[in-house]
Amino acid sequence: MKPKYYLTTPIYYVNGAPHLGHAYTTIACDVLARWKRLDGFDVMFLTGTDDHGQKVEKAAAEAGMDPQAFTDRISAVFQDLAGRMGISNTDFIRTTQARHKAACSELWRRLRAADEIYLGSYAGWYAVRDEAFYDEDELTSRPDGTRIAPSGAVAEWVTEPSYFFRLSQWQDKLLKFYEENPDFIAPATRRNEVISFVRGGLRDLSVSRTSFRWGIPVPDDPAHVMYVWLDALTNYLTATGFPDPEAPMAGFWPADLHVVGKDILRFHAVYWPAFLMAAGIAPPKRVFAHGWWVAGGEKMSKSVGNVIDVDELVRSFGLDAVRFFVMREVPFGNDGDFHRKALIQRINTELANDLGNLCQRSLSLIARNCEGRLPARGAGASEDDVAMLAAAEALPGLLRGHFDRQAFSDALEEVWRVIRAANAYIDRQAPWALRKTDPARMEMVLRVLADVLRGVATVLQPFMPDAMARMLDQLGVPDYARAVADLANPLPDGTPLPAPQGVFPRYTEEVV
Ligand code: MSP
Repeated sequence: MKPKYYLTTPIYYVNGAPHLGHAYTTIACDVLARWKRLDGFDVMFLTGTDDHGQKVEKAAAEAGMDPQAFTDRISAVFQDLAGRMGISNTDFIRTTQARHKAACSELWRRLRAADEIYLGSYAGWYAVRDEAFYDEDELTSRPDGTRIAPSGAVAEWVTEPSYFFRLSQWQDKLLKFYEENPDFIAPATRRNEVISFVRGGLRDLSVSRTSFRWGIPVPDDPAHVMYVWLDALTNYLTATGFPDPEAPMAGFWPADLHVVGKDILRFHAVYWPAFLMAAGIAPPKRVFAHGWWVAGGEKMSKSVGNVIDVDELVRSFGLDAVRFFVMREVPFGNDGDFHRKALIQRINTELANDLGNLCQRSLSLIARNCEGRLPARGAGASEDDVAMLAAAEALPGLLRGHFDRQAFSDALEEVWRVIRAANAYIDRQAPWALRKTDPARMEMVLRVLADVLRGVATVLQPFMPDAMARMLDQLGVPDYARAVADLANPLPDGTPLPAPQGVFPRYTEEVV
């Protein structure tokens, strides 16, 4: 039986249309999901939408729509975007679904039965844009007296009856949990931030609201709706069939990885494991917080009005190039400034030149000089051949390590190191000159190149599924031999290859 791997994106607020920032998290998860499948895992990959809460209710009211109809519409836009981005999610969850309401209600009942939730009343600050409570000392003031959260969102004073989760009781248990599970929060700088936040002391958390209706009613007290973050976080459990232990996906819990933006790490790394442990449920294994795409120095967001439209990017540059660029340009975890010029540069240098040309040169030499059939490796490999093949053969092992740390740009750098070495190898060996002088040697060199390209294309499939499928077609690799494990079996000598075609065209900016 294949080992299981369960990873999730955050569920997106449906208060507006998706942009590059949202697509980024989902693409990163998709790359990882595809890698894990390629590497022999049974993968559950969840994404979806966060339909409830005051922020969504407000957006629906502004659009003059009933919240259900509004969320139906925007949720569908997110679902379509996932399709257009080639996302291989195995489920798409919405928090308005019946399965989710049932799971949340059950989690609530368990927390209540364990006396982890009690009724009180909340008087404090709340920022609708963040759907988060803030302490007085976290806020700053504008000249007009408006109070501002660290995120820049406006905070409002709220007084209402509320249920509370006894988060204050979880400080030591959380710290112990982080210590025993050093990989639970990544990157390390974020882990340190979370730990110092928890060390600073935790207050009980308000987990219900009475001032609006758009949420899941609290069991046995329908005047309250559940706090949208308790509702939203539970989605990860809902999708595994919770509370049914016999559900088909039940074996996927605990999740292996939640990928989130750094703005929502606290919810995932503090509240979520506390809720779960309090209900007697295993916490997830890891939470990775990535950085933001910024434009003009600010986080790309609809409210700031500096968003990049992903569909436009894909129309101009192609899906694979966009996926490659966002994973390559910025180390996962850091912030990145989005520049079209940088994207064009990467397309032309790394895709068209380094990889595209290497492939085109090697395959056209094979087409012309080997009757379009895969040449044999033959005996008597040179030191250069052996070193070149060894570099390609080391890729899966190296990449496995990078993927398990979510170090996507390191994984790509590793592959490009091999691609650059192969370009140097072809120039050094000059197989075009060997045709007359030493045809056996020429065949050897071309076969080494074909094998290296196969290794490269195989491990790049998660990043650029379409382009790499075309490249593997040209290399004569059958559909059923494209997994990591298949690299152990060389293709038969003489495998017929189709006529070579360019995989990555250069991008030339239209001169206006
Ligand atoms: N609904 C909550 C998540 C609940 S998960 C149980 C939420 N939604 S969101 O739509 O506001 O954001 C979803 C994700 O998109 C977050 O991880 C956030 O960091 C990410 N991004 C939104 N804008 C972004 C950028 N400009 N750059 C990178 N990612 C950003 O929070």
